[in-house]
Amino acid sequence: MKKRPAAEKAVDDYVRDGMTIGLGTGNAANMAIDRIAELVDEGYDLKFVATSLQTASYAQMHGLEISDIDQVDHIDVTIDGADEVDPDLNMIKGLGGALLREKIVASLTEKEIIVVDGFKVTDVLGKKVPLPVEVCRFAHSKTASALSSLGCEPLLRTNGDGKAFVSDGGNYIYDCRFKSISDPVALESAIDVIPGVVECGLFIGMAYAVEAYCEESDSVKEL
Ligand code: 5RP
Repeated sequence: MKKRPAAEKAVDDYVRDGMTIGLGTGNAANMAIDRIAELVDEGYDLKFVATSLQTASYAQMHGLEISDIDQVDHIDVTIDGADEVDPDLNMIKGLGGALLREKIVASLTEKEIIVVDGFKVTDVLGKKVPLPVEVCRFAHSKTASALSSLGCEPLLRTNGDGKAFVSDGGNYIYDCRFKSISDPVALESAIDVIPGVVECGLFIGMAYAVEAYCEESDSVKEL
């Protein structure tokens, strides 16, 4: 199965009339939004919250109205992508820069559904991608030094123009290259206690189901 059919399947399998839906960030999430917009055209009555400003404007272009997250009492289903997924469905997210809002939305969501390229499925997290960590701009290089003491090489994320990337929350992101992350729970705890860290891109125990697709063949890798 390829990316778009996988995103559409995630929507068709989990989105039901009357639900409040979290809209993820990135390509896979946008493809899910395309399908959700079709369901709304067919008459589904849905509420939406967005995980990024980028997603909010994409959804609004499709005529979907985004609710204030503080005004919704629950989120039934969120459909999002990920950057790496392990066999326990733990994930690295945030290469798209939206990890803070994605994590808040995931934490409030009953069923977090992840659509990923099978290439992103790994036995141990951190082998293929760096771990994004969102940090307060104040004293960010000191926070980066503390992160490096955990055994990684933190690199300040920049835009094409060389200036630091600023997240929707107004923070910087350090992409932290570990050799591998054998104990994601312990690492998340160690990162979270560093003053200056806003959030890290480890999503532990948050995914309800993963729809993995393979662009090269028609086989679906089931997790
Ligand atoms: C954004 C994310 C994305 O979900 C992740 O980067 C995957 O994106 P894509 O579906 O474009 O591959 O975590 O912060």
